[in-house]
Amino acid sequence: MTMKPAERIPFLRREIARHEELYYTHADPEISDSEFDQLMLELKALETEHPDLLTPDSPTQRVGGRPAEGFATVLHHTQMLSLDNAYDEPDLRAFDERVRKALAAAQGVSAAEIVATYVCELKIDGLSISLLYEDGRLVRGATRGDGIRGEDVTFNVRTIRAIPLRLNGDVLPRMEVRGEVYFPRKAFERLNTEREQAAEPLFANPRNAAAGTMRTLDPASVSKRGLSAWMYQIVDATGVADAAPVEPTHVAMLEQLRTWGCAVEPHWRRATGIDDVIAFCDEWREKRHSLPFETDGVVVKLDDLAQRVTLGTTSKFPRWATAFKYPAQQATTVLRKIEVNIGRTGAATPYAVLEPVLVAGSTISLATLHNPDDLRRKDIREGDTVIVEKAGDVIPRVVGPVLSKRPEDSREWEMPTACPVCGGALVKGEDEAVWRCENSSCPARLLRSLEHFVSRGAMNIEGLGEVLVRQVVEKGLVSSVADIYALTADTLADLERMGKKSAAKLIEQIERSKQNDVWRLLNGLGIRHVGERGAQVLADHFGSVEEIEAAPPAVLEQVREVGPVMAHSVRSWFDEPRNRDLVGRLRAAGVRTVGERKVAPAGPQPLAGQTFVITGTLDAMSRDDAAARIEALGGKVTNSVSRKTSYLVVGAEAGSKLEKAEALGVATLDEPAFLRLIMNES
Ligand code: IVH
Repeated sequence: MTMKPAERIPFLRREIARHEELYYTHADPEISDSEFDQLMLELKALETEHPDLLTPDSPTQRVGGRPAEGFATVLHHTQMLSLDNAYDEPDLRAFDERVRKALAAAQGVSAAEIVATYVCELKIDGLSISLLYEDGRLVRGATRGDGIRGEDVTFNVRTIRAIPLRLNGDVLPRMEVRGEVYFPRKAFERLNTEREQAAEPLFANPRNAAAGTMRTLDPASVSKRGLSAWMYQIVDATGVADAAPVEPTHVAMLEQLRTWGCAVEPHWRRATGIDDVIAFCDEWREKRHSLPFETDGVVVKLDDLAQRVTLGTTSKFPRWATAFKYPAQQATTVLRKIEVNIGRTGAATPYAVLEPVLVAGSTISLATLHNPDDLRRKDIREGDTVIVEKAGDVIPRVVGPVLSKRPEDSREWEMPTACPVCGGALVKGEDEAVWRCENSSCPARLLRSLEHFVSRGAMNIEGLGEVLVRQVVEKGLVSSVADIYALTADTLADLERMGKKSAAKLIEQIERSKQNDVWRLLNGLGIRHVGERGAQVLADHFGSVEEIEAAPPAVLEQVREVGPVMAHSVRSWFDEPRNRDLVGRLRAAGVRTVGERKVAPAGPQPLAGQTFVITGTLDAMSRDDAAARIEALGGKVTNSVSRKTSYLVVGAEAGSKLEKAEALGVATLDEPAFLRLIMNES
């Protein structure tokens, strides 16, 4: 027998919450993402049919409406304290000394007799957050602010899936959970890449990005960015910090948080005495770089909650805790010169040549500068003393100039007008963030193009690495990707450090690559907007390079997953006679250009009978592409929201359609949910 909606809806909500907890809190999912999405879709559909059964704590409400204007101020009923800092071992020992003295005084014994028990937690480099729960339901999320007053960011907090909208099991009627909202490294990198492509200023680090995101007025865009959270404290409504319903220790509190379904950073450890604490800090000094999020230190807290009361707080921080901070991964040095690197598409990216400097154990002499706009915004100049930073294992970057040390004769840096490699003009398209060398035979572009052509995702010619590519270009053996197929064992054997054997091996690899699937060649050609996936889609649909070459843009666009941008780019690439010539030379050399057409079968039509409206801007694809995907899966796309609309797909800067959908109770899908839907269905 099927359940009635009034039973099915709460059942689905519990199931979804349980699976979210398994996923986020325990990292141990029981079901696949698509099964999870099915539950969510079913719940959304039921709630759309029965708007009277919709409640604010439903997981479908994670993307809520937008706050009318700005953020309201909230008063924290218990002050949100900050932490005192320790920068080295003596600082840590001094902290322990103070703790033991205070405890000894209270117990009437000598400090030497006391061994304090601490809990060491990783210090999350994010933004502290206060979550208010009433009868186990999340009713408010607030930033720390000045510790007394914060900002009401409930709308944004609701979009963070690591934060439970409802707690499991026994809860206090009114209580607060505190923790840290942070950006996982991957999500942060993705965000900055997207901003770079959109020519928006980049966030300097995940912490700033988290703070900026929490202060965004558009919850739908917050939800897309992939923020996460770790919780570390319970505060009860009567204002007693560190309320632990079970046993009065911090460890019990962390365990309680997990039972409720909150995400707790799992690497904490109980430490007996300060030596143990120091060992923990040492252990994580290097190891922390392999974590998927940034931590800048270790928070050391007394475990016994009664002892915390004995120690008390100052006006700013508790006396029972301290934050040990690892030495900064930053250093200052002189920026000798700003040079420009030319990529495969001709994109010119400035980078910094530095006075070599030691940062966190290694010497660096080159650093990235992001894009020219960023460089101008920060006004970084040649000759400046600059702050350089190394975050984890990523490439070092220039944070900004130290203005007080700027030489008097310094001048603002300008993007050169000529390509540093070939002298051709550097041009910037009107709506582009990047400058490009337009000379398609620029040697730098040639090198990068060759590297791409032979790379693993393209022709996969093993043994033809960067050094060798440079050599064959410098020797004049190769001036186009087609020339690779004219190389012989004899010409190769003349190169430095190239034995007869390895030359023969390489030739074998080159020969073998002629039989590659056609998509590899297509990807290797380096047509803008055609990556590995795009190449596969085109090859499957058309079957040969020749068919693609002959296809008008309208035909290209009809291909599933090919949008107008890719279609246009493919068309204009093949319109260029030199490119057609190149394909001809490759074909003549014996490289396969004809494969098999793999016309996608009509396939399942899982979205049949569902009507979609798309609003706002999607990051991953154009609206046209999104519509094409929906239609390929049997769904219908219309322009206006009505009661018949099954889903409104909400991109960034959605307008009145979102309001209308909300008024009509039409279910919404944010971009991640939409992408999951179409990915799992195809
Ligand atoms: S405990 C009264 N634990 O660090 C205790 N804080 O520098 C308050 N932070 O404002 C904080 N990770 O935003 C605690 N495991 C952790 C933490 C942590 C990061 C932040 C928190 C605090 C700041 C102080």
